[in-house]
Amino acid sequence: MSKKIFLRTFGCQMNDRDSEFVMGLLLEKGYLKAESPEEADVVLFNTCSVRKHAEDRAISNMGAFLKKKRRHLKIYGIIGCSAQALKKGLFERLPDLDLICGTGEIAKLPELIVKAFQEKIIAVGNINRPLPELKSTYRQGKKSTHVSIMRGCDNFCSYCVVPYVRGRERSRKAEDITSEIKDLVRRGIKDIMLLGQNVNSYKDKTCNFVELLKLVNDVKGIEKITFFTSHPKDATVKLFEAIRDLDKVRKHLHLPLQSGSNRILKLMNRGYTREKYLDLVTRAKHIIPGLFLGTDMIVGFPSESDKDFNDTLDLVKKVRFDGAYIFKYSPRAGTGAAGMKDEVSEDTKKRRHRTLLDLQREISKRKKHEKADRCHASHSLSR
Ligand code: 5AD
Ligand code: SF4
Repeated sequence: MSKKIFLRTFGCQMNDRDSEFVMGLLLEKGYLKAESPEEADVVLFNTCSVRKHAEDRAISNMGAFLKKKRRHLKIYGIIGCSAQALKKGLFERLPDLDLICGTGEIAKLPELIVKAFQEKIIAVGNINRPLPELKSTYRQGKKSTHVSIMRGCDNFCSYCVVPYVRGRERSRKAEDITSEIKDLVRRGIKDIMLLGQNVNSYKDKTCNFVELLKLVNDVKGIEKITFFTSHPKDATVKLFEAIRDLDKVRKHLHLPLQSGSNRILKLMNRGYTREKYLDLVTRAKHIIPGLFLGTDMIVGFPSESDKDFNDTLDLVKKVRFDGAYIFKYSPRAGTGAAGMKDEVSEDTKKRRHRTLLDLQREISKRKKHEKADRCHASHSLSR
């Protein structure tokens, strides 16, 4: 009888896509999808290690399953970023775990799972594997889906574990991406999100991200294109013009700010100042009418003072984002900031998080109303 697989995903869209890829490989090998961990023969968690909280949650959930484990009848595995970050340390934390598989080895999961029924398996080798092998046909969405255009990151922002767990930046070939999208269209998909840790530095021979957007916009049958995520240091006026001019590209830009303080931005190794950021978004808003601007911010980075935090509040008031994800800084082993002194207390992080969240909620609400009013006014005018 076919074995059943249960796969739970933690973290970002790149992880969702990796899970889809893994599920596709296993379905191709004859596994069936389990609806619950109880009915599964293989239970896998695809994990996130960007912040400690998410990592700990996945590990403790897995720990709860392992307590009920009936030996040798089921395989329990941790795959993805935390597997890559913690390696065999995961066996120390979870002695009954059967399988650890890092980000570069997920294509080998079918063989690794077979072996894991006999003995404990750990595969955390090459995180810089080339991309073409990451193909599988299974898609969860019927109308919309994610298309990975690159993998890894070269930016080494000092708080971020991504370059260490997903490796160096590698772009897929433009022709592989467009042929994958054409195939998706044949299967009824009309809405796609192009994914990469920093899509603006996409490069295949002479094709850069703006040219790739044009190629994708030309694919017949695609109706909506979004992309995620952009780094401010690589976003250009050409990109903003492409968003304005390409009819299928949503007028949506996610441009992580992280901090509004020049001192903290420098410590974060972000490669821009608050002035440059403000100039960039002013241009983006000017060029793209009706732009929806989103961002990510971190509070409580080591040594962040009240003045630094006030600089962030001030910039947020000036920029007026439509939406923002706000995170409390979480030290990650091996990153540049992990050894930085002057940790900000948990209480201060909580307070700043609340303050920034309240400010952003107020701005988002007002902007929504303003947009609705403008829409109403233009309807009244056209009547
Ligand atoms: N602590 C808190 N937030 C982080 N992010 C990345 N690393 C950390 C960390 N160590 C946030 C950044 C990034 C988003 C995906 O997660 O804001 O843009
Ligand atoms: Fe992490 Fe910075 Fe790369 Fe984003 S750009 S994945 S924050 S190192």
